[in-house]
Amino acid sequence: MIFAERMRGMKPSAIREILKVTQAPDVISFAGGLPAPELFPVAEIARAAQQVMNEDPTGALQYGLTEGHGPLRSWVTTHVAETVRLHAEASDVLITQGSQQALDLLSKVLLDPGDIVLVENPGYLGALQAFQSYQADVVGLDADADGVRPAALERALAPAIRRPKFLYLIPNYQNPTGTSMSAQRRCEIAAIAARHQLLVVEDDPYGRLRFEGEALPALGELQPDLNWVYLGTVSKILTPGLRVAWLITRDKLLFQALAMAKQAADLHTSTFTQRVVEVAVRPAGWLAQHVETLCRVYRARRDVMLHALAEHVPQGRWNRPSGGLFLWVTLDGNIDTTEVLKAASEHKVAFVPGAPFWVGQPTPTNTFRLNFSNASEERILEGMARLGKLLRAAKAA
Ligand SMILES: Cc1ncc(COP(=O)(O)O)c(C=O)c1O
Repeated sequence: MIFAERMRGMKPSAIREILKVTQAPDVISFAGGLPAPELFPVAEIARAAQQVMNEDPTGALQYGLTEGHGPLRSWVTTHVAETVRLHAEASDVLITQGSQQALDLLSKVLLDPGDIVLVENPGYLGALQAFQSYQADVVGLDADADGVRPAALERALAPAIRRPKFLYLIPNYQNPTGTSMSAQRRCEIAAIAARHQLLVVEDDPYGRLRFEGEALPALGELQPDLNWVYLGTVSKILTPGLRVAWLITRDKLLFQALAMAKQAADLHTSTFTQRVVEVAVRPAGWLAQHVETLCRVYRARRDVMLHALAEHVPQGRWNRPSGGLFLWVTLDGNIDTTEVLKAASEHKVAFVPGAPFWVGQPTPTNTFRLNFSNASEERILEGMARLGKLLRAAKAA
């Protein structure tokens, strides 16, 4: 088969192959970014699906508008106003098939081969893959505990360097590190981007999973003249299988281009699931209560994992994320976590090595990501004990 040139940018992941081996039921996996299935609001979604079929069955099963289901777009505007103080019109909202599709559509309409995209380093793998599949030159920016460093952004925007197409950020509980951008850092980064008229793509799947601290505003709200796109999704607050998400932009030309690209991709997001989501979130206060339950359970799981790390992984450093699904570990010395993972199925525990998340050279090999949302507290304790053994065995080898 002679594939298109763009397929050169898509490389099979060695890590994905190793992780396949760790999917056996007796393996405790901290690898995926999976929400806790026992907290899925199954009864509410079933009730909503039934209500959709009672209210307007043919409408729910018919083709729909590319931009999305009107009442759902309106709900999104209320939701983002309440949660991130973002003020948008329903006409600014494009419903997408997961935020992953939004990343693909943005790449499709904005990127020519060789265009530069700036990301925080390490960055979200799905975004890196989307950008690279359109042959972008992805450039990683240094980040610290407060997010991307302003100096790194300034350097990437120096006049002698080719102008980047956009900056991609996850300010709340980033994937893979769990880091959040501080309020001051948000202001600094938004100010630099606005001064350089650089488009910022803010991806916010985890913002509502806040365990402590104040909710911080979205970047575009801090800097009204920022050229800015905001992405949200129901994946982590309802269920990921629904594949319902939203992109918000006030740039009418960009919106039109994205809607055209979406039309070519899938005509529209499933009419039925959009309506199910809209009906499921209708009862006043229900979603807020559900999210509170998620936060309570995930916070406890995070704490169990942090205690277990202190007990079983003395040879490393890690952060204490104040929300989201992940934390990030850096091991002392030069242990290669990709090599360690090869023995993971034998020890019946899995994690994701850090290497694929890093952009550019040299790639640190001694980092890894842990997910704390998916396993119960008991499984986390058992899995972390196994991980400790695995790391001790790797060190001794
Ligand atoms: C930062 C980030 N963006 C986007 C996505 C994709 O979300 P969705 O399920 O809405 O496609 C994920 C999924 O894990 C993610 O971590």
